Amino acid sequence: MIIITGANGQLGRAIVENLLTLVPTEQISVSVQNPEKARDLEQRGVRVRRGDFDDAESLAHAFEGASQVLIVSAPRLGEQALRQHRTAIDMAKAAGAQRILYTSQMAANPASPFAPAPDHAATEEALRESGVAFISLRNGYYASSAVPLLGNAIETGEAVAPEDGPVAWTAHDDLARAAAITLTKGELNGITPPLTGTEALDLAGVAEIVSEVTGRPIRRIIVSDDEFRARLIANGSPEAVANMYLGYFAASRQGAFAHVDPTLARLIGRPPMTLRDVVKVTLQMDK
Ligand SMILES: NC(=O)c1ccc[n+]([C@@H]2O[C@H](COP(=O)([O-])OP(=O)(O)OC[C@H]3O[C@@H](n4cnc5c(N)ncnc54)[C@H](OP(=O)(O)O)[C@@H]3O)[C@@H](O)[C@H]2O)c1
Repeated sequence: MIIITGANGQLGRAIVENLLTLVPTEQISVSVQNPEKARDLEQRGVRVRRGDFDDAESLAHAFEGASQVLIVSAPRLGEQALRQHRTAIDMAKAAGAQRILYTSQMAANPASPFAPAPDHAATEEALRESGVAFISLRNGYYASSAVPLLGNAIETGEAVAPEDGPVAWTAHDDLARAAAITLTKGELNGITPPLTGTEALDLAGVAEIVSEVTGRPIRRIIVSDDEFRARLIANGSPEAVANMYLGYFAASRQGAFAHVDPTLARLIGRPPMTLRDVVKVTLQMDK
């Protein structure tokens, strides 16, 4: 039985949909916080069980009969994220899984200023320590995050943010396809190369694409980290959110998201979606 966590989330659900095209339905089980939201999968023959990273007993039930468990990283930071991931790893091992897959990030690094990066690095350490065979899928930066990073630039014509660096934007659908293929074929092992799209673009490049797609000119304006923080706080962002953004800009300046790697394209057997493709879908434009 292949167990997928986070199957009501964007990446987890896309992984399940891809897996359904690769293995018999009765080999797939999902571990979700709210089984009601996965009734459609149950109706199609997928086993649906409640599993919460904060409730080890629920995971014991959800991971029953596991041959592999794919842990979709939780949308949490710091100690909480690590505790949840450790619980999921421990329970996958206890269920007898022969292999654990984990959705890490290309920037995983204990010293990174980007808040999720040390959490991913610490989870990879926990995977190593588990003694179970594992694959840590070092996913590229989500392309769906690119347009939100522009703030209200489409309306104002100005993309105001600190200096940044290139990012190898990567589509959820391609990462999901790669994860499903990895669950069924043996190419990857341990920590993977970065699984990325084919082009690294900074915010000016993102703004250019969004301008072309929307027909609205956008000027990139660079401000200091301090000014950007003050703007975010003035607009009502909590301190933690402001720190997350500033960490992103600092890490991107260090090149943490810049590496473009051919592994994703090879795995999925086609060129990954471009940022332009994803922007068009995000903005629902058909140009
Ligand atoms: N590569 C990148 O650039 C990037 C960017 C942003 C985030 N991420 C990471 O990628 C993950 C998946 O992305 P996504 O777009 O699919 O996010 P998403 O749609 O928000 O999905 C997050 C999933 O985490 C699950 N979850 C949350 N708390 C949980 C808990 N206590 N126990 C079990 N599951 C829990 C949710 O489960 P339910 O559906 O059952 O509630 C949800 O399915 C994120 O959670 C984050 O760690 C990566």
